[in-house]
Formats: sequence, C-alpha cells, structure tokens
Amino acid sequence: MRKATTQFVCAECGYTSPKWLGRCPDCGKFNTLAEEAVAPPATGKKQVSPLSFSKATPLKEVTYEKYERISSGISELDVVLGGGIVRGSLVLVGGDPGVGKSTLLTQVASHLAKAHRVLYLSAEESCSQVKLRCERLHADAGDMLLLNETCLENAEEEIGKAEYVIVDSIQAVYTNALTSAAGSVGQVRECAAKLMRIAKSQGITFFIVGHVTKEGTLAGPKVLEHIMDTVLYFEGERTENFKILRAVKNRFGSVQEVGVFEMTGEGIFGLTDYSALFLSDARGEAAGAVVTPSETGNRCMMVEIQTLMCKTAYGLPRRMSLGVDFNRLVVLIAVLEKRCGLNLSTQDVYLNAMGGIKLGEPSADLAVCAALASADRMAPVDKYTAVFGEVGLTGEVRGVNFAEKRVNECVKMGFQRVVLPEKNRKACEKFRDKIELVPVTYVSQMIKALFPPKKI
Ligand SMILES: Nc1ncnc2c1ncn2[C@@H]1O[C@H](COP(=O)(O)OP(=O)(O)O)[C@@H](O)[C@H]1O
Ligand SMILES: [Mg+2]
Repeated sequence: MRKATTQFVCAECGYTSPKWLGRCPDCGKFNTLAEEAVAPPATGKKQVSPLSFSKATPLKEVTYEKYERISSGISELDVVLGGGIVRGSLVLVGGDPGVGKSTLLTQVASHLAKAHRVLYLSAEESCSQVKLRCERLHADAGDMLLLNETCLENAEEEIGKAEYVIVDSIQAVYTNALTSAAGSVGQVRECAAKLMRIAKSQGITFFIVGHVTKEGTLAGPKVLEHIMDTVLYFEGERTENFKILRAVKNRFGSVQEVGVFEMTGEGIFGLTDYSALFLSDARGEAAGAVVTPSETGNRCMMVEIQTLMCKTAYGLPRRMSLGVDFNRLVVLIAVLEKRCGLNLSTQDVYLNAMGGIKLGEPSADLAVCAALASADRMAPVDKYTAVFGEVGLTGEVRGVNFAEKRVNECVKMGFQRVVLPEKNRKACEKFRDKIELVPVTYVSQMIKALFPPKKI
C-alpha cells in the first residue's frame, strides 16, 4: 500500500485522521479538519552530544542588521509599512473582493520594476488582463515579469530569480504536497509557509493578496497572520471611492498607521487632504447627525455619525449599526434610556458612520449619544459643533487620549464649538481663544448643552 503523504488535522484539538471528516470525533466541532502534509519520520535515533547544546548570548553581544527599506512609490503605503518595504519580508494585503488589492499591487510592482526584477504571479487573471490593467493605470511597467500559474511548484523557478514577487492571490495557488482544492485552509497555510521559507532563505520580498472570507477573517481562521511579517487590511465599501489601508500586524513598524486612498479609473492614489471626506452636506440641517474627531492610526479625522429613528412597526425594536460596534450602540441606547430619560424602546434605531469608516475607539460614544438624542428630538445639531468622549454605564463622560490633537483638528476644520470630557478640559485650555470648549461630566449635561430648553 502507498504510504499516506497527507493527513487531516483538527484545528481545535489536534485530532488526526487519514481522511476528511465533517465533524471531529474527538472534540465534536464541525468543519475543523484541514489537510496537512505528513512530515517524513525521523531516521535513526537522535544523538544528543554536549557539543550541540545551544548557547545563550549576552544581549550586548547580539548584533543585528539595520533593515534596508525601499519606497513602494506610494507614500501612503510606505507610511503604513512603517517607512517602506523591508527586503525579504512577507506582506499580506487583505480585503473584500473589488476593494483594490490588485490595483494597488500592480502600481507597486510597476514602480519597483523600474529598478528591480519583479514577478507578478497572477493566479486569478490572465497575463493579458494584467497588462490591460497596467495600461488603464498608465503604469510604465515595461520590465515587469508576468506569470499566469496556479501551481506553486511550477512557479518556483521563476520566483527564485526575482527580487520582488506579487502573489495574486494566495487562495488561487496550490501546492502538490496536498490533495485538497486550492483555497482550502490546508492549502493556504501550506502555500504561505512555502513562500515564507523561500522569502527567508533567498531574501525575496513577497506581497501576497489574501481574500477575506464571509466571516471577515483573512483566509479562514486567521491561518495566515502568524506566518506573515506584515498584515495589511483594506477597508472600505465597494461603492465608496476612498479606502483605508490599515496595518493589523507589523514586525517592522507600528500598527497605529493608516493610509487613506482614493480609487479612480486611473488607479489608486494616496490622499493627503482627507479631513472633509467623512462629512456630509446635510450636516447641521438634518436631525441625527453629529461630527466627532476620531483618532484612527495616528491621524485625526472628522467623522460624521448619522442616526435615524423610526417607530417600531411591531414586536422588538430594531437596532442596526454600520461603522460603530453593534453592542456599543445597544449599551449607549440603554445609558440614554436609564440616565437621561429618553424613551427609545418603541423606536427602530439605525446608525451609520459616514464614508464606510470603522470607528473602533470609545471616544465616539458621546457623539453617538448626541446623534441619538438629536434624532429623538428631531432637533439638528449645529454644523460647527463637534463632540467627543467615552461614556460609562453610569452615564459619566470619561476622558480620552489625544484630546489636544482632536481639538486641534476641530480648530483646523473650522469648527466653533467642541463638547469634550471635563477631564480633558485642562489640556485643551490653550485652544480657548480659537474654539468654544464645552466640558461635560455627564451625558445629560451634553444633551442640555446641545439642546437648551426653549424659553417660553
Ligand atoms: N476598467 C475599469 N475602469 C475603471 N475602474 C475599474 C475597471 N476595472 C476595475 N475597476 C475598479 O477597480 C476595482 C477592482 O480593483 P481590483 O484591484 O481588481 O480589486 P481586488 O483585486 O481587490 O479584487 C473595482 O472595484 C472597480 O471599481
Ligand atoms: Mg484582484
């Protein structure tokens, strides 16, 4: 009988099986078995000689090489990478289909091809499609090499000759070591591991495109992140022109950086003036819209939060949130009901952060509360008022970090009033002659400040 070269291993408990099973017999989880290559058994007994023991090195004697960085030709991308491309690193660029991964990497490849040997391994599109894209982008990529191949072993020779390799995409390539289909967890992991070995042994730099699965993770359950040096993630709605590139992991730089890009027919371009992108024209006229200075990756951007309330037709009220964590919205609604006396139990609530941006930090809490209060009262908030602060369950407003930077951005964008946590007031006093500061300790104070009771 032929010896099995692959086995199926449960990602949850490590159970191994010679064939695929839908449910792991050991831990009972479904769909967790992935194919893996079986390592050849070690031959003979391992001899451990005292001479082969590893020696520890004192820290002061450890030497290191300074990372050599080169520009990708797109300054926003360089910022996200932590100052440029590091030679011999593996960079994963993830995102939804159509977000612009191939476009961005085509532009990078054509820039690099001017001075280096660059291979574009296109497993998804034919060479002519890539060429058409290059022409559309007006990319001068005469010396770029194209290879349309899905089998990694067949492409290995060409990969070995290049300095920079773009793999588009990791889900479309496969290795002969496994029998499962391209795109399966086992294949993706094995292919990435193979590319990593090539990158580290031959000093080749890889840019790898990874599609995001339905669950929103890169190629299944984060199988790739630990192998990569840098993981970048493209955010943005397919219908919106601007996209945000965020570093999720970076061994050579900060993960605080983001890049803002605009997608046009001629390609994708870094935006330096991004401040007004996330604001609408209806601001100040329609109820339910409030602007907050949001700190996203070392950059402060003014983002408009829009809310809409409708009477619940029947049964449970609906809550829907885009751009703000759903659970956070539910908590803030509860705080408004209990601490500020709003009655939202018969209202459907819809929330949207403008421009498809995701607000991950708690400083948007107070602005969400302000937008909800504005929608509930049908009273618009002044166009030149910004709001920021974290909200606690007791209805208190907590201080946030980067308060000065936020107020400074409000001043820069021409805002005239900012509602901020009392705890941050002292740090922002210096802006007092440029902008009106409204410090608040409780959410109810913010509501009073924004919607003063009408005098009869
Ligand atoms: N011929 C074209 N003219 C203008 N824009 C195009 C054209 N083809 C594709 N695009 C734009 O480029 C985007 C696809 O970019 P692409 O880099 O292929 O995405 P991904 O590789 O992330 O799936 C599409 O969303 C579309 O808006
Ligand atoms: Mg693509």
